[in-house]
Amino acid sequence: MRKNIVAGNWKMNKNHMEGARLASEILDGLRGRDIGCEVILFPTFTTISSVIDVVKGSAISVGGQNLYSERDGAFTGEISAEMLKNLGCQYVLVGHSERRNIFGEDSVFLSKKLRIALEYGLFPLFCVGELLEQREAGKAGEVVEKQLKDVLNGLGGDEISRVTIAYEPVWAIGTGKTATASDAANMHSLIRDVIKSIFGSEISQRMIIMYGGSVKAGNAAQLLNEPDIDGALVGGAALKADSFLKIIYASAK
Ligand code: PGA
Repeated sequence: MRKNIVAGNWKMNKNHMEGARLASEILDGLRGRDIGCEVILFPTFTTISSVIDVVKGSAISVGGQNLYSERDGAFTGEISAEMLKNLGCQYVLVGHSERRNIFGEDSVFLSKKLRIALEYGLFPLFCVGELLEQREAGKAGEVVEKQLKDVLNGLGGDEISRVTIAYEPVWAIGTGKTATASDAANMHSLIRDVIKSIFGSEISQRMIIMYGGSVKAGNAAQLLNEPDIDGALVGGAALKADSFLKIIYASAK
């Protein structure tokens, strides 16, 4: 049985004081509850430390929103896997559509990032998803399959076992438009088939595949009810404790 993960991607929001406050409100909302899912917060780099101070010893994990593809060196402005790991991060986002589309990150680069994250013992949350024109052209499945194969092919069994996937249709991110539960479920099952074709059935059945793109308190239960949707990667609605907590409460499998 796969567990659900509910993760908050704070993007470039919340300074270290605001982040600590939000983390402590989320912690308060979870206290004394059997939440039955894993909760991860992805604050911006400068906010990570203060969030870790707040959630230390609790069930909440913390991750980085990005990392660089090299171990160390002259890469001004970049953050390494080792730095995240030493700070106390367990997870890192790789391949978020904003990295792909605003910063031009391609599969070759993402592949290196994912591998270096694994090398340093981080759990990569690998994001895939199609653009609106690709969906309208009937190419969504093809695009997502290629994104998966280009980066995941060649990983060993224990490497892929530490990867989590998030399907985030780009047209649904921050737009208020959500994939219908059945469209999302279809894509999740296609993703599981792709994983199966590369890594076999056992690994594909264990793979956690989250959905992201305008997940809110009002639509979370319906999405998370789909057997192939194992959680939510939440942007906008993760910036307020109240709406994020409602999504967590809705995720009990
Ligand atoms: P959103 O963002 O929930 O604001 O659509 C999701 C994401 O980008 O991970």
